Amino acid sequence: MNKNKSTARAHPNIALIKYWGNLDNELRLPANSSLSFSLSALVTQTTVQFDDQLTADQVVIDDLPANDSASRRVNLHLDRIRQLADIKTYAYVESKSNFPSGAGIASSASAFAALTLAACSACNLQLDLRALSRLARQGSGSASRSIFGGFVVWHTGKTDAESYAESIADKDHWPVVDLIAIVNASHKTVGSSEGHLLAETSPLQAIRIADATRRLEICRQAIVDRDFNALASIVELDSNMMHAVMMTSKPTLLYWSAATIEIMKTVLRLRHEGLDICYTIDAGPNVHCICIREDAKAAHDILKKIPGVVDVLESPPGGGAITLDR
Ligand code: PMV
Repeated sequence: MNKNKSTARAHPNIALIKYWGNLDNELRLPANSSLSFSLSALVTQTTVQFDDQLTADQVVIDDLPANDSASRRVNLHLDRIRQLADIKTYAYVESKSNFPSGAGIASSASAFAALTLAACSACNLQLDLRALSRLARQGSGSASRSIFGGFVVWHTGKTDAESYAESIADKDHWPVVDLIAIVNASHKTVGSSEGHLLAETSPLQAIRIADATRRLEICRQAIVDRDFNALASIVELDSNMMHAVMMTSKPTLLYWSAATIEIMKTVLRLRHEGLDICYTIDAGPNVHCICIREDAKAAHDILKKIPGVVDVLESPPGGGAITLDR
């Protein structure tokens, strides 16, 4: 090995058209294509160092040794990369994020995008962005989108080769902002990996999937045209449809809290009053309020005052995953 250590950074992303449910759980081939933008203000930085002296992978997340399930997931992902690079060496992995993990802010997206890039670079595995996206996808579906910057589509597919992400517009294409109203920063009880397995138990999932290409196309066109009204209605519909599937799964997945609903209602009211703002919610109680830059300050101030909102994070679209090595 001529290099054994690398550091990479990646941003999480917010899905405007959501991924929920897999065609293949092992390969994480999604049941539908999805569309997101990456969040520049939120970042995960990961260093991977392969070391011949190690007898197992060692994983530290946010300055603490990772728990068993997180370690196992990182270990499995490194196994994929070791197999491609044809090496057996274990690695020391240290990862830090500047935002709460596991609370519906897609921390696994930035985590697995940064891990994929750092690990490949540390073992000198030269992959193009599409191959990195396919590989990151196997660690966490939404991580496939975090390899790329700006507005990104991740394609569903029947095989590993067919399911990858690509950028459809760069980060400066449209000055939108994600205001993330945090109502609870603690770790969610049912993570998305488990949640995806339940999607098929909902009688609404087949309907959601059958209509997904139409929704994605409307969303893509709204972004191309910078048409906020078109964006707002399709983004809220898509989020509501995913949560309807979650709520009608067996067992029921209910991620919302009272404050979540209060924020949704406030966003609807603000739009009615003329602000360009809409909501979308991932697998957690926090609400991503998407607005155009000119309305961000007014919206931020109002969201912060809603009872139950403990913080509001703010981010414009960001770039893709990068290595920090010189
Ligand atoms: O990549 P995962 O397994 O964390 O799933 C992400 C699922 C949602 O955040 C709810 C939707 C999405 O497309 O990001």
